[in-house]
Amino acid sequence: MPRTLGLIGSGNIGTALARLAVAAGVDVVLSNSRGPETLAGLVAELGDRARAATPAEAARAGDLVVATVPLHAYDKLPVDALAGKTVLDTLNYYPQRDGRIAELDTNDLTSSALLQRLLPASRVVKVFNNIGAHQLFTLARPAGAPDRSALPVAGDGPDAKKATAGLLDVLGWDTVDTGTLTDSWRSEPETPVYVKPYAGESPAGLSPADWFRWALETPGVTVPAARVRELVDAAVRGPAGGVVPAGFDSPEKA
Ligand SMILES: NC(=O)c1ccc[n+]([C@@H]2O[C@H](COP(=O)([O-])OP(=O)(O)OC[C@H]3O[C@@H](n4cnc5c(N)ncnc54)[C@H](OP(=O)(O)O)[C@@H]3O)[C@@H](O)[C@H]2O)c1
Repeated sequence: MPRTLGLIGSGNIGTALARLAVAAGVDVVLSNSRGPETLAGLVAELGDRARAATPAEAARAGDLVVATVPLHAYDKLPVDALAGKTVLDTLNYYPQRDGRIAELDTNDLTSSALLQRLLPASRVVKVFNNIGAHQLFTLARPAGAPDRSALPVAGDGPDAKKATAGLLDVLGWDTVDTGTLTDSWRSEPETPVYVKPYAGESPAGLSPADWFRWALETPGVTVPAARVRELVDAAVRGPAGGVVPAGFDSPEKA
């Protein structure tokens, strides 16, 4: 179990992960773009296991480090401070939010492979990208619970994936190994395992924007490892990038 989780990005996903980690007895070092002082309220709420720092300090402090910023900010990550680290990549490509990135549009690279190219001295693992922040928290269960859910994990290094699976276990999740960073498109936006299975059946007739609002609050449904495997295997590669409903700035606020 990691002693300290570094978080670069402390928004929806960073906050949910920090809550799970602190509850599991893991120290967290949070960071964002505006400075540690802007995280004082969250740190106070999380208690003694949490502190705020700069992104480089969070990177250096973490036994594992989560990169959970909008993809358009990926090249602002502290490359040197992340050298030698396992970097858990939650990033998703939403062109309407992130701008067009040619190598993603052509499917020459997955977004995780793009991140790995930026961080040649780090080990990138794709994880936590295919679930809404609310369900990431509400569906967490202790090891052995009959209603425990699983998340896909993709990466090029077995040791990094093993460490990631260990973190997931502590946070309340089983792991399904879905291959390499090249394979990680199988959990990107618009694939079968992306967000919706964890949210569950929605009321009929919701517009996309209403669906996202509903998904912000619904507790979600169990998605066991065998179902995650089926969904990942059923993926067919289409154009990269998700679609943001009109009026929505952050599609996964689900
Ligand atoms: N929301 C979801 O349910 C969900 C689910 C799965 C995956 N994701 C993906 O995970 C990533 C984070 O999503 P989110 O919803 O948590 O985003 P969010 O709520 O918008 O939070 C983004 C965080 O990143 C920080 N940030 C932005 N630029 C930064 C920089 N240059 N250096 C350090 N920190 C920076 C922001 O800090 P400031 O506020 O100070 O700028 C903020 O704390 C995105 O790539 C998203 O596509 C989201």
